[in-house]
Amino acid sequence: MKTNNKTVLGLQWGDEGKGKVIDYLCRDADIVVRFGGGANAGHTVVTDKGKFVLHLLPSGIVQSHTTCYLGAGVVCDPWALLDEIDMLEKSGINTVGRIFVDFGTHLVLPHHKAIDRHSEQLDKGTAIATTLRGIGPAYADKALRIGITASALCVRNTLESNIKNFILRKRPVLESIGDPELLLPDRLIEQLGKVEARIAGMVGDVTAELRQASLKNKKILFEGAQGTLLDISLGTYPFVTSSSTSIGGLFGGLGVPPGIQGEVLGVIKAYTTRVGNGPFPTELDDEIGEHLRQKGNEYGATTGRPRRTGWLDLAAIRRSAYICGVDKLVVTKLDVLDGLNEIKICLAYRHKGQLYDFPPLYADFFETAEPVYDTLPGWSKSTSNLKSSSALPKEARGFLDFIQENLGVSIKYVSTGSHTESMIEM
Ligand code: IMP
Repeated sequence: MKTNNKTVLGLQWGDEGKGKVIDYLCRDADIVVRFGGGANAGHTVVTDKGKFVLHLLPSGIVQSHTTCYLGAGVVCDPWALLDEIDMLEKSGINTVGRIFVDFGTHLVLPHHKAIDRHSEQLDKGTAIATTLRGIGPAYADKALRIGITASALCVRNTLESNIKNFILRKRPVLESIGDPELLLPDRLIEQLGKVEARIAGMVGDVTAELRQASLKNKKILFEGAQGTLLDISLGTYPFVTSSSTSIGGLFGGLGVPPGIQGEVLGVIKAYTTRVGNGPFPTELDDEIGEHLRQKGNEYGATTGRPRRTGWLDLAAIRRSAYICGVDKLVVTKLDVLDGLNEIKICLAYRHKGQLYDFPPLYADFFETAEPVYDTLPGWSKSTSNLKSSSALPKEARGFLDFIQENLGVSIKYVSTGSHTESMIEM
């Protein structure tokens, strides 16, 4: 399939800087689409209009010419969606007629957030440290076939019976939470009633819309959320999110054919971060880790939690890049490495005497594997906000060349600051 479409996917544990990349690329796109996840994402976009942190809407909404879609693979918290819309409207961004939610998109209800909180509190030792946005419980109910979809807000006559069935099936867990309001179907019907009209006006057939758009040669930008290492099936399970964050999620979450994805851009940060629990072999618990956190402002865009920081892990990224069929790389936050004397890069893992340059991600392996590093010289000159590769210090160019050669994938863009314009086209 010949297409000018593009897909942006994170190759680490999320927070790679995809929001900024999307904002940069969507100047040349007609449509921006999210295919998975929900309001757990935190996509930060800094433009001349201001700083916007988006959780549920595609980051492309900030550019006024785009139409934005949430596919059936997304889980949509209607209240979070309307808050985000109101925030944008207050900042002067018109959203009317620009947002569409698929009929099949599942709703995240207050019950899901309560269950998320409850299960995270049950045993701190096994907690995932989720974003508490109700994401896992909403996908769980989708799999149980008791979830409420956006279509139910349009076809009002099934909503009440669906909600009654939902609460009946959830009764044991809701009772153990101890909030009697959660057991009242009428309460939920009333809550949904308050947002129903606004949401129902945005609900439609995203698969059909994307098909029409393709027939008209519109340019589509597919916006991944989270990162490949957080993929429910392919990531560092159980310390993952609940959706398919890699390329497969795009097709399953939108109902579109292979080929439509166009050029796949894999986004990696020049170092690694992770929020939440789970193994992180290249983690730094020292002053370099703190340097990365402070200089990179590594605090969760959704939760404000300090992110764990560590060296770049090319072994894990090699696996993510393969899974996603990455055509080109985007390296973000290069400027955060400015001033480090030396930079380490993990190339492989040693596990029980064997070397793995394409490591499996199952928890036991990842917890006990030892990273094998190469060390590169750092640079003292600032790369902050550079827009041309010729201005890069030779050590920074060496760092980027090392990444390309090791992964066998070339770098297309390098981000050197939070503003959308701070980007080098290689
Ligand atoms: P959940 O998606 O809220 O269920 O959280 C599951 C795991 O995914 C937790 O470790 C979260 O911190 C992580 N996570 C979810 N969304 C993001 C994201 O957008 N960036 C980084 N980590 C995320």
